[in-house]
Amino acid sequence: MSVTSDYRVLEGKRLLLVISGGIAAYKCLELIRRLKERGVRVRAVLTEGAQQFVTPLSVAALSEEKVYTDLFSLTDESEMGHIRLSREADLVVVAPASADILARMAAGMANDLATTALLATDKPVMVVPAMNVMMWTNPATQANVRTLEGRGIRRLGPAAGDMACGEVGSGRMVEPMEIVAGIAAFFAERSVPKPLAGRRAVVTSGPTHEPIDPVRYIANRSSGKQGHAVAAALAALGADVTLVSGPVTLADPPGVRVVRVETAAEMLAASQSALPADIAVCAAAVADWRVAAAAGDKVKKGPDGPPTLTLAENPDILATLSQAGPARPRLVVGFAAETRDVLAYAAAKLAKKGCDWIVANDVATGTGTFGGDDNQVHLLRQGAQPETPLIEIWPRLSKTEVAARLAQAIADTFLSTSNHSPEPV
Ligand code: C5P
Repeated sequence: MSVTSDYRVLEGKRLLLVISGGIAAYKCLELIRRLKERGVRVRAVLTEGAQQFVTPLSVAALSEEKVYTDLFSLTDESEMGHIRLSREADLVVVAPASADILARMAAGMANDLATTALLATDKPVMVVPAMNVMMWTNPATQANVRTLEGRGIRRLGPAAGDMACGEVGSGRMVEPMEIVAGIAAFFAERSVPKPLAGRRAVVTSGPTHEPIDPVRYIANRSSGKQGHAVAAALAALGADVTLVSGPVTLADPPGVRVVRVETAAEMLAASQSALPADIAVCAAAVADWRVAAAAGDKVKKGPDGPPTLTLAENPDILATLSQAGPARPRLVVGFAAETRDVLAYAAAKLAKKGCDWIVANDVATGTGTFGGDDNQVHLLRQGAQPETPLIEIWPRLSKTEVAARLAQAIADTFLSTSNHSPEPV
């Protein structure tokens, strides 16, 4: 996350500061002072561990607010329930975030006031980890951090350096003024107008599974990484995104409505249910064929040898969504995975499917595109003549960067055309 030194965005913001147990908790007193100086209202929750390092009294004195510690305090529940506490904030910051509280957050536990408020909140959450270097690098902590980040939780630090425990390495809490800058950057980012605000998008992602019988299916190697990244990138630019996902092992992207499906037929139905939409991006690797008559019971080995599978063609979701009509999204984007003659095949696909853009990607053996984190793509846009699309050659990028660049290109298109224009350019 970038930092900013323009603190005016902080004026009038409400922060719920969750202080967990760790020697760095003492730095929260300084953090509260710096936030208060910049017009932030800070309410604090202290875990039991935190109270070993700082007293509720000093936190209350500096924040000039009541401090909350107990999940079962009758007085607090009547004055300010934990639900209200977690909702009456613009941002929840956990600083220091100990290995323990990260683990409890990742597991969805609610066994004290801090974790209950964190589980109940509908507000963005930022964690500022602080712990011993071995605790930080432990695969358990790293897995917890990835889980939390997958759920859209933001993280600041930790920093590297000398630690209170005498060891050196990564695990130190970032300094209070850096936290203030990180919080200001968060609010600054949110105050930037979102170019796709008010636009609806439907994105397909992942493979489809086409049943042979109740236990077997036809599938492909798509991981869904690219499609999920596109959904996240469109949402980051303010679009209201429905992600129709085939079976994947990825976490749901933050701020996106996810509809899970298995087969191509289900994917088409879910995509059509998500209409009307301004934008459709078909990034799913939809199986071209399904088994014409999937068996109701498990197919058994028998004396007649292997069974013959009769296939039937699946509906083409991209071509269906591209069909002219009142329900057609203004911009329909497809992907073309090719192993050779990438641009020529992609240009033919653009014309055949009737979509506006094709993102052509090279999936030849050795490119590592399937399941990998990088992608080599080119953007083809429908030109004035169907046989001469406008081609942009993109460098090899991470799938996240490809998604961000595609989302920005989509946003630019919508910005450059009026709402009444029939076709984006
Ligand atoms: O024809 P091909 O599968 O190569 O086309 C790829 C593009 O078409 C992708 O955008 C993919 O999501 C879409 N597609 C689809 N439905 C199908 C097959 C492909 O939406 N049945």
